[in-house]
Amino acid sequence: MPALHDLTAAEAAAYHVLDIKIEGGMVIDGTGTPAARADVGIVGDTITAMGDLAREGAGRIIGAAGLAVTPGFIDIHSHSDWRLWANRRAESKIRQGVTTEVVGNCGFSPAPVSDEFREALRGFALYLPPGMDFSWRSMGDYLRRYDEGGVAVNVVQLVGHGTLRLAAMGFARRAPSAREQATMERLAEESMAQGAAGLATGLIYAPGSYATTEEIVAVARRVAAHRGFYASHIRGEGATLLDAVGEAIRVGRDGGLPVQVSHIKAAGRPSWGRVKDALALIDAARAEGLDVTADVYPYTASSTTLRTLLPDWVLEGGIDAMLERLGDPAVRARIRSELTGGGATLMRGLGWEDIMVAYCPSRPEAEGRRLSDVAAASGQEPLDAFIELIVAEKGKGYMILFQLDEADLRRALVHPWVMIGSDGSALAAHGELAAGKPHPRSYGTFPRVLARYVREQRVVTLEAAVRKMTALPAARLGLTDRGVLRVGAKADVVLLDSEGVADLATYEEPHRYARGIEGVLVNGRVVVDGGEHTGALPGRVLGRS
Ligand code: ZN
Ligand code: CU
Repeated sequence: MPALHDLTAAEAAAYHVLDIKIEGGMVIDGTGTPAARADVGIVGDTITAMGDLAREGAGRIIGAAGLAVTPGFIDIHSHSDWRLWANRRAESKIRQGVTTEVVGNCGFSPAPVSDEFREALRGFALYLPPGMDFSWRSMGDYLRRYDEGGVAVNVVQLVGHGTLRLAAMGFARRAPSAREQATMERLAEESMAQGAAGLATGLIYAPGSYATTEEIVAVARRVAAHRGFYASHIRGEGATLLDAVGEAIRVGRDGGLPVQVSHIKAAGRPSWGRVKDALALIDAARAEGLDVTADVYPYTASSTTLRTLLPDWVLEGGIDAMLERLGDPAVRARIRSELTGGGATLMRGLGWEDIMVAYCPSRPEAEGRRLSDVAAASGQEPLDAFIELIVAEKGKGYMILFQLDEADLRRALVHPWVMIGSDGSALAAHGELAAGKPHPRSYGTFPRVLARYVREQRVVTLEAAVRKMTALPAARLGLTDRGVLRVGAKADVVLLDSEGVADLATYEEPHRYARGIEGVLVNGRVVVDGGEHTGALPGRVLGRS
């Protein structure tokens, strides 16, 4: 045999050797079993050999001595569908070791689109990169257009209930007519047939919040018929947390499909400690035989649009109607009384000093500052300063809310059926995607779990944490050939330094890539090599026929 390090592809093929051999690493296979020393052999996009491969030649040998070798991470809760158009390299995600993103979450997917309500959907979208023009209608059209551009990571698309409702009836704040309901159900079924993996709701966001449980169950049944699952940003994460978890479970039971409770949390100090009770509801549902799981991100601040703090009637009719309403002093007075009235709003237990302006390019001086400061600097009441920011950014500005409890977070992290999801997007530390002060989760989620909660605090073992990032989400998605390192699986692989891995993104300086993710392969192609992006775009839309 010749020296195998520098065979040409043709020579390698002639010797029937591996395309790539990852040599000398500690394999953590994703299932939770203890790490063990093994080489990993890859041909094409598939793992074809594992174990002691010292005698096997390879077109390329990647030394992994001193590194952990794991399946590529699956971000079960992502919003990258709104970003990857302009960030095909998926910079901030791939550099965390993410090889598959599950998008369409919190009720919003970019498809399907109806001609009648195309502008409503465009108005709702926070960020529209070039190419995202909503010229498609069906999920199938959209995924085809998306896939044509090539992308570094694999994508699993959910269909958003908010998007379905917009397509059927716009921002109408009422129950659907029989015909509108039928349209939603037909579009859901069609989206599933064309490649969506499940249904996502966002029940604090208009227009999703206008829906009854019955409306959702009827749509969910159609999704169940295509073996999809139900992911939900539930109807309340504070005072009404337990009712909202109960509603999600009911959709699973009555709709006949598995449930994913998105970014489980107890928001606002009066609700701290309640994650334990929410997890108990999930355990009870599982004991009943229902397939219910959840995900969590490893931070004690959440993030959403500024407009989400408003009562949902303000959004009736869409963004333009909202902007017009906000100019009316009587409307402002009503908002003030509802927000400070102690009702079950997002403001419960939250002060203006707990809210940081994350993104508001038309008022850059406010970005990174607390609303209490922004208001004081302009001599305004906080509510007025806040509404001015919403208006200035036409509803597209967003915020970070410091409102979660570390003990709740740890409790979720250790639960065996809770996986890791970023709730962030693929950003980049340069150009337009580096704007503002977005939540650091878009850059740091997975490394932060490995650094802070595995290595420093020992809340979970490395093997258990990797399972939460790989095999567990793969099982939720029904992906039988990803999320585990074994012969026959697709070659989505991460090489990481478990002693050095760390998130570097902070609330003050979020646009910083993680450290210690040394190599990432997607479908057998190297996308991160020695910590640097190779420019390869081997990702695929999974499940698209
Ligand atoms: Zn959400
Ligand atoms: Cu989300």
